Amino acid sequence: MKIVLASDHAGYSLKEEIKKHLSQYEVIDCGTSSPSVSVDYPVYAKKAAELVASKEADFGILCCGTGEGIMMAANKVKGIRCGVGYDLEVTKLLRMHNNANMVSFGARFMNVNDVLNRVDAFLSTPFEGGRHQKRIDEVTQIEKENH
Ligand code: RB5
Repeated sequence: MKIVLASDHAGYSLKEEIKKHLSQYEVIDCGTSSPSVSVDYPVYAKKAAELVASKEADFGILCCGTGEGIMMAANKVKGIRCGVGYDLEVTKLLRMHNNANMVSFGARFMNVNDVLNRVDAFLSTPFEGGRHQKRIDEVTQIEKENH
């Protein structure tokens, strides 16, 4: 499984913790590469999201201060379904019900160990399909109508 990571300066340290935690996987790090240089999260969200959308990576994990801005930017890339993993159960549901291919975390509001548990849950939980597929198809239809 290939996983892409990206963050802005606020999410940098959390991204690095996640990278260490995922040493058994093939990881592509799209940056940023320093916590001390202020950068714009859309730049990094786009790089990571395009690798997931093109299927060069299976999943993407994003970090910024809140997890919100980087998630919004990633969701502008066609084919991306990204949510904020604000809780363990919600992170599993992002996979089970929403077939999320990316998840974001907020470094200023989340505990590192909680995030690492959520990362494991995200990567190991399958999509349930069934009634949820119809809803995903409806989301994709909105995307088609607005591109
Ligand atoms: C950067 O200060 C901060 O605005 C950013 O990391 C993120 O929280 C935006 O959603």
